[in-house]
Amino acid sequence: MVGQIYLNMLAEHPWFRVAAVSGNTTVGKRLIEAYGGKGEVPPKLRDLEVLPSDPKKFDADLIFSCLPTEAAKTVEPEFARAGFPVVSDASAHRYHDDVPLLVPEVNPEHLELIELQRSKRGWDGFIVTTPNCTTMTFVPPLKPLLDTQGVRHLDVVTMQSVSGAGYGGVPSMAILGNVIPYIRGEEEKVSAEPRKIMGKLVNGRVEPAPFKVDATCTRVPTLVGHLASVTVELAKEFDLEEVRDALESFRGLPQRLELPTAPRQPVIVMNEPDRPQPRLDAEAGDVKGMPVFVGRLRRGTRERTLRFVSLSNNLVRGAAGVAILTAELLHATGRV
Ligand SMILES: NC(=O)c1ccc[n+]([C@@H]2O[C@H](COP(=O)([O-])OP(=O)(O)OC[C@H]3O[C@@H](n4cnc5c(N)ncnc54)[C@H](OP(=O)(O)O)[C@@H]3O)[C@@H](O)[C@H]2O)c1
Repeated sequence: MVGQIYLNMLAEHPWFRVAAVSGNTTVGKRLIEAYGGKGEVPPKLRDLEVLPSDPKKFDADLIFSCLPTEAAKTVEPEFARAGFPVVSDASAHRYHDDVPLLVPEVNPEHLELIELQRSKRGWDGFIVTTPNCTTMTFVPPLKPLLDTQGVRHLDVVTMQSVSGAGYGGVPSMAILGNVIPYIRGEEEKVSAEPRKIMGKLVNGRVEPAPFKVDATCTRVPTLVGHLASVTVELAKEFDLEEVRDALESFRGLPQRLELPTAPRQPVIVMNEPDRPQPRLDAEAGDVKGMPVFVGRLRRGTRERTLRFVSLSNNLVRGAAGVAILTAELLHATGRV
């Protein structure tokens, strides 16, 4: 699922060119055969041969990894040890102290961990990770709230699309006409990751942000786009219009640097009462699938409580797009 999005985005990228692709069961096939009708291969890449994940077979300046977790545990360090910068969507290394967990608009300063990682591990290359696609539904809107009001607590209920589980992830008999109120391992990730991403870098360590997250993660029969219902307890009383302005005017380093994959506005507030919707909004935006859409902005009944729904394209903003944006930031800041 994610690999196909990378190839579509990279085939048209102004800075990057696809040098090689790797696979597992499809090694040795041409990409057009490897796809086997499961998607459209960008025409200029159809004849690329799928390689095994062996660093010696690669001649490239940077590796994007969308490996399954188990493979990522061993393969990504092999590439980093061999001198490659690796930008990974897998969860295998996200929680290590010396590995940045990056949302380029939110915590670009965490890239400073790269030097520490290299010296600690003796690697010429490095690993930078992107968050879980569900974390991404609410972290970009949370950042301006944290900066302007302070955040005490978060309650999140997610409605996650089937593409989030990978191409063969959820059997159709289990999900069609149904909702599954549990996704193994997901709530732990969604609770831990925002605290690392929004943590402060102090003396080479990330001190987790001081709020807690309660999450319920569900799988629903949508194709693309994770929707979340979010209740935030802020530290200060707030004016709803000021909150709306803070979300709409939020910009990060990628916007200031005008990186090719940076949406002009990372968070877009929708005023229609029935938006955002995965089918209508997951592919929207000036850079398609990159903005996070927020709607139903309102007060909760408890003091200092803000409620909203937010939507992020799990394959683009939640995986390939954020990784490509991270690579652009690495390049623009001279790290690649
Ligand atoms: N889906 C999402 O929304 C999403 C979002 C964020 C992060 N992620 C993460 O991204 C990763 C991929 O997810 P996905 O949804 O794209 O899964 P997927 O559709 O199941 O695809 C997994 C791919 O990994 C390849 N692969 C397996 N072992 C490999 C190895 N040792 N070397 C090279 N390639 C190997 C497979 O290649 P073959 O086809 O050749 O067997 C397959 O194409 C996972 O870690 C997932 O947690 C996914």
